[in-house]
Amino acid sequence: MSWVHITDYSPSQGWANPADADSRSRESCRLLEEGGVLYFDQVPFDLPDPDREFLRSQKQSGLRVHKNISYRPKTDALRGAAADDPEGAQRLHEIMRSYSKNVTQFVDRLLSPYAKDRQLDFASYRPLEEKGRDLAYHKRNDLMHVDAFPTRPTNGGRILRVFVNINPAVNRIWEVAEPFEPLAGKLAQKAGLPRYAKYAGSPGRKLRRTVAPIFRSIGLKNLDRSPYDHFMLHFHDWLKENRDYQEKWPKTRLEFPPQSCWLVYTDTVPHSVLSGQFALEQTFIVPIRAMVAPQKSPLKVLEGLCGTALAN
Ligand SMILES: [Fe+2]
Repeated sequence: MSWVHITDYSPSQGWANPADADSRSRESCRLLEEGGVLYFDQVPFDLPDPDREFLRSQKQSGLRVHKNISYRPKTDALRGAAADDPEGAQRLHEIMRSYSKNVTQFVDRLLSPYAKDRQLDFASYRPLEEKGRDLAYHKRNDLMHVDAFPTRPTNGGRILRVFVNINPAVNRIWEVAEPFEPLAGKLAQKAGLPRYAKYAGSPGRKLRRTVAPIFRSIGLKNLDRSPYDHFMLHFHDWLKENRDYQEKWPKTRLEFPPQSCWLVYTDTVPHSVLSGQFALEQTFIVPIRAMVAPQKSPLKVLEGLCGTALAN
């Protein structure tokens, strides 16, 4: 796993050497796509101290929030704020809107090859201590997994996430493991990839794709979820259920100190969150056509293994 600490990028100026900016951006994309982590020891965009303090106070003032807070930039909608505190919810909404805008500007500049095609997904605030969280088995963050979204199929697009540890004193602790390409080479067949490849060419899938638009109009979404998305959702759960993988496969511990920020393709780098409280996150979906190294994408890796097209 490559971990790159970036020290020559500033929020106001971008890359320190403008003549190198394009090649540094491309190199950063490549590193991420190959399963690396880009790390900054200070937040590389504007995130005011009063906003961080307000976010932390949401937990400290008697848990006004009960789970992750999510912000949907496309519709400017906030979910998960306390219904009995409209003033607090409004402030929270403003902070999440501003965070999402600033992190997006930062990513568009840092990873300029993606700027034209990347799609803005949800942002989230994670106010709860991860250690010992009482979650349903497949939702547990402390089990090694690759990300897949049940409600937002990507059809091969990749899940790029930007995290910030806004805890004033405590590190956020992750474990990561070898990335998707070698992992899938060892486990995808065992996890049932041939079954999903078979489904890709089946009459049942053709029928679902034909009727999906009709059902979508009455609110039934994702009936035409691609074989790729089906497999990735399954693989997410399968890895969490696999005791041998969870307990015996090599892992690397990563510690993210207060104020640090990191970027990672979470569909490519298996990860688990062992502990930490107060983190911000923004997700981007990056389509294959924007990739610098498309052959490293989970879609292309899986298609190479099964010899079948898996996207819609
Ligand atoms: Fe995850």
